[in-house]
Amino acid sequence: MVVRTVIQDCYSIAALDFDRRLFDSLIPLPEGTSYNAYLVKGSQKTALIDTVDPTKELDLVCDLVRLGIDTIDYVIINHAEQDHAGSLPMVLELFPSSRVITNEKCKEILIHHLDLDEDRFILVKDRETISLGNKTLEFIIAPWVHWPETMLTYLKEDRILFSCDLFGTHYASSDLFMKDEKSIFIPAKRYYAEIMMPFRASIRGHMEKIGELGIDIIAPSHGPVYNNPAFILNAYHEWISDSVKNEVVIPYVSMHGSTRKMVDHLTRALIERGISVKPFDMTVTDTGNLAMSLVDAATVVIATPTVLFGPHPQIVYATYLANLLHPKVKFASIIGSYGWGGKTIDMLKSMMTHIKPELLEPVLVRGLPGEECIKGLDRLADEIAQKHKEIGLLPE
Ligand code: FEO
Repeated sequence: MVVRTVIQDCYSIAALDFDRRLFDSLIPLPEGTSYNAYLVKGSQKTALIDTVDPTKELDLVCDLVRLGIDTIDYVIINHAEQDHAGSLPMVLELFPSSRVITNEKCKEILIHHLDLDEDRFILVKDRETISLGNKTLEFIIAPWVHWPETMLTYLKEDRILFSCDLFGTHYASSDLFMKDEKSIFIPAKRYYAEIMMPFRASIRGHMEKIGELGIDIIAPSHGPVYNNPAFILNAYHEWISDSVKNEVVIPYVSMHGSTRKMVDHLTRALIERGISVKPFDMTVTDTGNLAMSLVDAATVVIATPTVLFGPHPQIVYATYLANLLHPKVKFASIIGSYGWGGKTIDMLKSMMTHIKPELLEPVLVRGLPGEECIKGLDRLADEIAQKHKEIGLLPE
């Protein structure tokens, strides 16, 4: 845990979790993560903005002691998930006169998860403010920047947006501010893909509100603080847009080599047609890399052998995950090899309930991929190239 000054009277109290490798028992963390709480000292009142993961709550206490804080008037909770709200019970116990400021939905979730006393809450609505004396906090209700109760807090006088999960990065760093755009872009995109992509439509609405604020600093609750907010705002504008790239993502599994041969052939055929291809062997792939590749890709081709009656379980997982993440992919197809039958195509199609891409004719082969199969893969490559031309990704 470390205290760092964002600006005068505004401190980052970040629990750096360099060694954590999995979040929500789901998301790989190759760069660790951080849980950033912030302390804002006004001339009359002091506010703590979010807390930290409960595994780091003693670090939070030590930092508050280091800062000489003996009173916290308000604890602002932007999001009820445990990595930000999990130390709230301890903070409320240590500072018995402090009140929790949040919205109605967040209060409901906090009470269910943390068993808190209703009397400690002050509820706020969209654009309401609270004064700390010489500093004013404004609350922006922004549902679905992870959960339905999320909100943002804006320090008006200093033009700092405390965005909690939004604009975060799972990246543990000893630097408070982003130092190097190149090294942060990929972790920020990975975080967007894994956590924010399903909420692209909600984020669009919030970005309009955020654009009206006037922001000098974005202080999220994971990863670096941005004193050049345009970097992360521009990246988000691109990621949440409807524009896709001339890319095909191929999550695949092969048991005895036939599906692998099909993937190799299709990859070559697409490259020859001027299309970028990203194949992922799902038996060894970091799912964060797959998620990131889905942010921009125009097309996904799922490649699987048939196991008993349907797709390989790793492909079921990849398809389920891709559907949950809700990328803006426009076209999809299925290829693979089977032994004697099964319902692979029907099962995979039925899993694409959110993404609803245009489905291109699948290519399935019994056993080894022979001449007819190769023709089918070439036909699929032609069809993908044609679709990419129709939406302007490839020249006619
Ligand atoms: Fe960082 Fe949704 O918690």
